[in-house]
Amino acid sequence: MTSIFPNKTKSYNQAAWQKGYESQRQELAYEVTDIDGEIPVELMGTLFRNGPGLLDIGGMPIKHPFDGDGMVCSVSFQEGRAYFQNRFVQTAGFVAEQKAGQPIYRGVFGTQKPGGIFNNMFDLRLKNIANTNVIYWGKKLLALWEAAEPHSLNPENLETRGLDYLGETLKPGDSFSAHPRIDPASIWDGGEPCLVNFAVKPGLPTRLVIYEISPAGKLLRYREHEAKGFAFIHDFVITPNYVIFFQASVKFNPLPYVLGFKGAGECVKFEANKPTQMIVIPRDPARNDVQTLEAEAGFVFHHANAFERDKQIIVDSVCYQSIPQVQADVNYKNVDFDALDPGQLWRFTLDLETKKVTRELLATRCCEFPVVHPKHVGRDYRYAYIGATHAKTGNAPLQAVWKVDHQGEDSQVYSFAPDGFTGEPIFVPRPGATAEDEGWVLLMVYDSAQHRSDVVIFDAQNFAQPLATLHLKQHIPYGLHGSWTPEVFVNF
Ligand code: CO
Repeated sequence: MTSIFPNKTKSYNQAAWQKGYESQRQELAYEVTDIDGEIPVELMGTLFRNGPGLLDIGGMPIKHPFDGDGMVCSVSFQEGRAYFQNRFVQTAGFVAEQKAGQPIYRGVFGTQKPGGIFNNMFDLRLKNIANTNVIYWGKKLLALWEAAEPHSLNPENLETRGLDYLGETLKPGDSFSAHPRIDPASIWDGGEPCLVNFAVKPGLPTRLVIYEISPAGKLLRYREHEAKGFAFIHDFVITPNYVIFFQASVKFNPLPYVLGFKGAGECVKFEANKPTQMIVIPRDPARNDVQTLEAEAGFVFHHANAFERDKQIIVDSVCYQSIPQVQADVNYKNVDFDALDPGQLWRFTLDLETKKVTRELLATRCCEFPVVHPKHVGRDYRYAYIGATHAKTGNAPLQAVWKVDHQGEDSQVYSFAPDGFTGEPIFVPRPGATAEDEGWVLLMVYDSAQHRSDVVIFDAQNFAQPLATLHLKQHIPYGLHGSWTPEVFVNF
């Protein structure tokens, strides 16, 4: 059998992968009519996605995609039809830079203003780029970026309304992470859903702030915890009784940043030989017994889920044995995937009685962006859906979607290699479903052969073939995170 792949050892072509990082300047709104297969009629609601839309500012390439201006996409599903929209978040920085036609702010991950170090020295203003996640909560559509306030958008047409302080929950300059978790049935609120989010307030000590917010957008609970040393924490997990942070050992030397040589993100160095602090904070407002356990964990950007079992907390996470420091002189598009450690799915068992942590590698396949059924967030669960590589081992761009079955009977992978590149899947439960995997998996796939993106719908119980592939009119640069709401905001 001859290989369909351009290179026998690789499932992808690096030049084809790089095209997915081309800026998308067009803002469009249209009904998607170029569809293979059929959109399930019961699939009703809106998929929101966020990610960097511009990989250059006025033709000057940015240094890292994490510095790219946020562009939100929505796909509304109604009666077997779909309506697509995309729009940039009109942050103050985006508006000013588009007017100026060049970078005005420095990026956290190394994008510098023109004019060399003298023009960058001591300029520590942050540009809130609103590019990491987008959620619908408290009747608001919020574009999130972890180092600053959310931006509120009009869910009908994605127009930016402005910075949003969630009532009086946030003050100007506060941050709000891009990884809120929604407790589907909070025991502190009579079983009502509750949004739990955090913020990292830098300083010595670092303060971890926890917000718990009602479905109406009201602040229910607030807590602060002082963590030792510098913390680089992107995500966390919740259970009914706890919030859990993994604080990896990182060094932060701010001098090159302050002096204008580097972005702040380039000054963070992960110390692979030092243990991770696992900080377990009770959600019960009457309790103050924060526990810190230590374990070898590597570095985690994203957790899949956590749950309680007797006196133990189980945390499933995508973990890297090492992460390289962001290199000033290496273009992210030329990354050598083979030289990097893969992200892999691990299970950590935190024993709150013995204070010991054990860990287990669940599978070798490289993966990122895990999600679970929304009703199982913080609870025992069987299935996770994750962006994954085509090959079972090694590091590579994400080209597949993987349904992980913790009971080991039903793990399935669907690969879009060699031309397709994937990201975060979203699981949508079928209305009235009882089985945990009864529903759909929605996925944005960049098709490098056509230089456009597809929205792909799978029956979560059968990954053999997609149910429908919706061909968009343009490409969407590789995105970060998104969410689903059963509400439809567009009449079409
Ligand atoms: Co993230």
